[in-house]
Amino acid sequence: MTANIGELKLDTIHHMDINDGLKLIPDNSIDLIIADPPYGINYRSGSRKRKFTAIRNDNIIMADWLADAYRVLKDGGAFYCWTRWDVYAKWYNRIAHHQELHRLAKERGRNG
Ligand SMILES: C[S@@+](CC[C@H](N)C(=O)[O-])C[C@H]1O[C@@H](n2cnc3c(N)ncnc32)[C@H](O)[C@@H]1O
Repeated sequence: MTANIGELKLDTIHHMDINDGLKLIPDNSIDLIIADPPYGINYRSGSRKRKFTAIRNDNIIMADWLADAYRVLKDGGAFYCWTRWDVYAKWYNRIAHHQELHRLAKERGRNG
């Protein structure tokens, strides 16, 4: 029998919206997050004859899910996020922002 983490089965691919999926995972329960989100670059393969359809949500820096990512990440856990060089700074700022909000919320929780 496969164990669960929150409402999700372990060792299983769950094909779902990141915002819905993360909500099903308990706080402070994940050791490692590896993400390859839409980078916010409106990417569309142009190097081949066959044009692929546009990537969903790639027209904005879709970063709201980062709050839940930090909520589910264990203390001392690792978070790897792919992006592209020209939007790296935007992603870096958003990740640092959510990391700091999470740190402050935990500190407040500890200190009352
Ligand atoms: C940069 S691509 C990653 C591609 C992936 N690494 C691959 O090799 O197929 C970003 C992916 O995120 C998906 N995506 C966009 N919005 C999403 C959402 N809200 N929840 C989950 N996936 C989403 C897109 O459809 C796209 O497949």
